[in-house]
Amino acid sequence: MQMHLEKEIIPSPLNYIGGKYKLLPQILPLFPEISDTFIDLFCGGCNVGINVNADRVILNDTDGNLQNLYNTFKNMDKDVLLKMIEDIIEKYGLSRSDIHGYEHYGCESGKGLGEYNKQPYLKLREDFNEHKNLDYYHYAILYVLIVYSFNNQIRFNSNGKFNLPVGKRDYNTKMQKKLSDFIDRLKEDNFVITNTDFEVFSLDGYGENDFIYADPPYLITCATYNEQGGWNEDKERALYKFLDKANEQGIRFALSNVLRSKGKENAILLKWLEDNPQYRAISLDYNYSNSNYQTKDRSSGSEEVLIVNY
Ligand SMILES: C[S@@+](CC[C@H](N)C(=O)[O-])C[C@H]1O[C@@H](n2cnc3c(N)ncnc32)[C@H](O)[C@@H]1O
Repeated sequence: MQMHLEKEIIPSPLNYIGGKYKLLPQILPLFPEISDTFIDLFCGGCNVGINVNADRVILNDTDGNLQNLYNTFKNMDKDVLLKMIEDIIEKYGLSRSDIHGYEHYGCESGKGLGEYNKQPYLKLREDFNEHKNLDYYHYAILYVLIVYSFNNQIRFNSNGKFNLPVGKRDYNTKMQKKLSDFIDRLKEDNFVITNTDFEVFSLDGYGENDFIYADPPYLITCATYNEQGGWNEDKERALYKFLDKANEQGIRFALSNVLRSKGKENAILLKWLEDNPQYRAISLDYNYSNSNYQTKDRSSGSEEVLIVNY
């Protein structure tokens, strides 16, 4: 029996770079049944952790903005939050194509709503970046920024300022459904949100009924959360040490990574695998059920794997 079968699979409401939503049909069947705690050590968009069954699911990430956003989703009354989001959109004069259609804004679907939303979006971004009180309202604004930003992404510069330009889409029915489903799921009792560097994440008390899923930034590919020296060879080595320790404690783990990508190879990872023949690298197909040529181009030559110790 596999642990994923009971739950409806839902996507993250964030278009998170490196998100594993498309790989879930391949990854989830490779997980064993977990009776105690599932630790999503680098949860990012939460695509994996939110879709597993376990007594307790820890959603951990070092990104404080992300974790505070999830805490807002989890702890704030849902109706109050949704009303707050709609009020922010209205206050700033951002579009609501779900109510008025594209024509109302002098835009068509192909080109999107960017032109109409640009000024109100920049004003909202400025207010968010100047807002000092890190309350629920602050994170409701962050969610609205993500919805109206380029590709619905989340990115802060080295000064901690949200810096994405305006995007083409708005708070449409698809976004509303993703948010609503995600909030409902996060509110389930077994989800715990933590904000800890994996290097100081304590493994005390965990054992053979627990599981670690590690989806770190990839050393040999570039992602925005990796831009300012966030991930490097020292972190990579520290992670393997951490996973070795988990293994000694009898904790099962699965690590996502790429062995090779666009002419580069992850020598540290390959050496770790060579030194630890008890670990298995299972090949995944990134383009599985996704024949979009852009995706194919981007990931061509990448050897995506899941490394497991069971
Ligand atoms: C590849 S993403 C995870 C994507 C996620 N599995 C999903 O499907 O949405 C990697 C994440 O690791 C986080 N991260 C980077 N360094 C970390 C550290 N030292 N400890 C914990 N999380 C870290 C980043 O903030 C980023 O969200």
